[in-house]
Amino acid sequence: MRAFYITTPIYYVNDVPHLGHAYTTVAADALARYHRARGHATWFLTGTDEHGQNIEDVARARGKTPKQHADEVVVRFMDTWKRLDVSNDDFIRTTDERHIKVVHETWKRMEAAGDIYLGSYEGLYCKRCEAFYTEGQLEEGRRCPVHQAEATVVKEPSYFFRMSKYQDRLLEYYEKNPQVVLPEMRRNEIVSFIRSGLRDLSISRTSFKWGIPVPGDEKHVIYVWVDALTNYISALGGEGSEKYKTFWPSAVHLIGKDILRFHAVYWPAMLMSCGLPLPKHVLAHGWWTVRGQKISKSLPATRVDPNRLAEDIGPDSLRYFLLREVPLGLDGDFSYEALIGRHNSDLANDLGNLLHRTLAMTEKYVGGVVPRVTPALDETEPHKTIAGLAIRARDEAERHFEALAPSRALEAIWEFIRGANRYVDAAAPWTLAKDPARRSELDHVVHTFLEAGLWAAWLAAPVIPRKAREILGQLGLADAPIRWPTAWNQELSPGSRIQRGAPLFPRIDEAKQAELLSRWIPPEAQAAPPSVGAAALSQPESVAGSGTITYEEFARLDLRTAVVKHAEHIPKADKLLKLQLDMGGETRQVVAGIAEAYKPEDLLGRQVIFLANLKPAVIRGIESQGMILAAGDKQVLALSALDRDVPAGTKVR
Ligand code: MSP
Repeated sequence: MRAFYITTPIYYVNDVPHLGHAYTTVAADALARYHRARGHATWFLTGTDEHGQNIEDVARARGKTPKQHADEVVVRFMDTWKRLDVSNDDFIRTTDERHIKVVHETWKRMEAAGDIYLGSYEGLYCKRCEAFYTEGQLEEGRRCPVHQAEATVVKEPSYFFRMSKYQDRLLEYYEKNPQVVLPEMRRNEIVSFIRSGLRDLSISRTSFKWGIPVPGDEKHVIYVWVDALTNYISALGGEGSEKYKTFWPSAVHLIGKDILRFHAVYWPAMLMSCGLPLPKHVLAHGWWTVRGQKISKSLPATRVDPNRLAEDIGPDSLRYFLLREVPLGLDGDFSYEALIGRHNSDLANDLGNLLHRTLAMTEKYVGGVVPRVTPALDETEPHKTIAGLAIRARDEAERHFEALAPSRALEAIWEFIRGANRYVDAAAPWTLAKDPARRSELDHVVHTFLEAGLWAAWLAAPVIPRKAREILGQLGLADAPIRWPTAWNQELSPGSRIQRGAPLFPRIDEAKQAELLSRWIPPEAQAAPPSVGAAALSQPESVAGSGTITYEEFARLDLRTAVVKHAEHIPKADKLLKLQLDMGGETRQVVAGIAEAYKPEDLLGRQVIFLANLKPAVIRGIESQGMILAAGDKQVLALSALDRDVPAGTKVR
């Protein structure tokens, strides 16, 4: 049987769960649920990272021992995952005996391979990252680029891991296995990091106690990352256990891009040293900001509490939003308004409405009982179209879940759900119901609605498990398993009775929205700036007041000419257009805030100036891969243009 092993990072217990942690965990959960529905042997691991100087400091500040502190915080993580319907099979804590044992074994194996030696270390250490930095990697005031925490000089005896020895083997491995580190952009980053030279890694500390002692030299505790990374194997029971044999070869580490280096360089080097195989994939997802700001302890407005959202709007709406809004891999910006928008449009309108209509018509026209199908009708319109959409959605969803792309899977599933709503209109049961001679056609149509509801529930269940169960209940299948659909119009049993219940996703109207926003957004943050707006994406930021830049800084902008090949409005976004640009063979998609100044048809064939190396962003669920230049400050007045045509893709300097 095929196996699937998925892990999240183990979270530090110096913080309580926030939106970022929820994102990784929910994404891993959806992938695990998909594989279970397919009948694969699945193992889903999450947990907590409880050692290290930072945790020791935080506990001391609270007047607790580190273990007491960890015991308290770990409950917050476990509770949050329960509330979000996270279906982890195991929860590992680095203070578990089973973990400590495997960390010791790992150390000894690396030692036996001749890869550990005693030396002394002096360097700049960031406690928040639990990592050393070079002066050049730190920002002003010796602050770390991830947390802006000040790094301190650390000098002490230390054991080292011979990471340099693995530089060539790692490069060769990634060359031969280009699919291990995903997405591709991250693999390139890692390959150039390795190419720039790997230094031996300091892997023990003597200046604090809260950690796993080095075997045979108890003055030292093991570096927290060596300890933490080993969780992926210790939780399986270590090499040699049955669980390890079944699951390790299929391991997928889902992580945030902040900790890619640890997972794609340190961990593989450690595994090579131990003579163990590398994970199948390391997928680094992007970073969520909240209304344009980095999630940070010091900014209350960014402390989005997933528990609160799950309670107020339902875990499924939050899960759906997180996985649908941004493709795994890209950065995204969270706003409460966008969350409510998705709830209303995709869940209340599309899916909720489909079920509501379906069940109402089943009661009205066929007495609330699943009617028979006439298979031959599936070969005629409009039944043929919906059958085709169902099969396509299933196959596409399968392909995208397999490729670790839940947002794409959801897109495909929602194509089908919208198609099913159109089918209800095209099949017009209200007309068929007037003519007793057309009873079998009516039966077929009602059956098809119900089947569509069942397929929607099964396909979307990895992401919205609670509502999928509710749908099954309302279809009269409360005890049916969640599985993957196989044969169209053959999954329901005629004769069973439906159980119509409460609306699945009650619409959030304006009054309710205002109430929720005032509850969710802390008062001091109510006037916070909105998330990245359309204008910011279509216009260069004013440099006035920001001083001068050097030519080298300017030269980093990859400005090119591009030709507009396609332009269209974005539904419910008055200011935005979606453009496809030809950059001389390469097509780029851009979301531009120019809809108030230009009609889509006026743009076709126009040459524009395009900033090609702007970091991609997701706006209204659409990836924008650059920015076109325009004049105007708040409002776009005119697009950039050249006074004669040049080939698309020409450099602008
Ligand atoms: N303990 C280490 C991981 C050890 S794994 C062997 C750690 N913990 S953490 O608590 O800081 O969690 C980091 C992870 O939380 C990120 O990699 C990501 O999965 C998630 N996120 C935290 N903030 C995030 C965002 N703002 N956006 C998206 N995910 C983020 O690092």
